[in-house]
Amino acid sequence: MIIDVSASDVVAVYRALVGVVAPRPIAWVSTLDGEGRVNLAPFSFFNAFGANPPVVAFSPTLRRDGSKKDTLLNLEVIPEFVLNAAVEELADQVNATATELPRGQSEAEYAGLTLKRSTRVRPPRVSESPVHLECRVRQIMPIGTGPIAANLVIGEVLLIHIEDGVLDSQGQIDPRKLRTIARLGGNYYCRSTDLFEMERPQKKDEG
Ligand SMILES: Cc1cc2nc3c(=O)[nH]c(=O)nc-3n(C[C@H](O)[C@H](O)[C@H](O)COP(=O)(O)O)c2cc1C
Repeated sequence: MIIDVSASDVVAVYRALVGVVAPRPIAWVSTLDGEGRVNLAPFSFFNAFGANPPVVAFSPTLRRDGSKKDTLLNLEVIPEFVLNAAVEELADQVNATATELPRGQSEAEYAGLTLKRSTRVRPPRVSESPVHLECRVRQIMPIGTGPIAANLVIGEVLLIHIEDGVLDSQGQIDPRKLRTIARLGGNYYCRSTDLFEMERPQKKDEG
């Protein structure tokens, strides 16, 4: 099969893209609107891009009708967010917070989650999640104007909270304890429990 993007339906392109670029980590993002109401939603167009300063980016795309999602609207007013770790034991709640509730209604409450204050940013953290990255928006980059068009939200991480229970004896995050989930195409997800290790290759002697 060949998909010529210029001649294809946008939904077909989207389906191919999320099938190929997989698995994708999940940003579980809490934001605040101008009236202080909390919004929580998952985004798998997400990754980290550097560590000095630590940079993450995710993309709340435009809805099928071309409108902006609440997360994006909130970030345009209060440019701060928290990335909560999307872990296996909270999979149902992560999914529940993707429900399109009326603007201003909290998906956290809807999913039965509790919130606690953040330290450096105004949006709160999901108490049940073991890791939180408190972030400030550096840039929002819209790419396209139609349905499923990207809005790259580039954020700088200011503070990282990690529960001791997900650390190994060296103080590093143990993936077997954190158990993040990731998204593939369609309704598929994967766990991070089928692990293998490889040593990095040594620099070849140029002699
Ligand atoms: C696991 C998962 C990943 C998702 N990833 C994205 C994404 O990367 N971009 C996006 O716009 N929507 C994504 N969605 C859909 C949004 O979560 C959904 O549209 C949500 O209602 C947006 O919330 P908001 O309007 O409160 O911002 C995803 C949904 C799920 C369940």
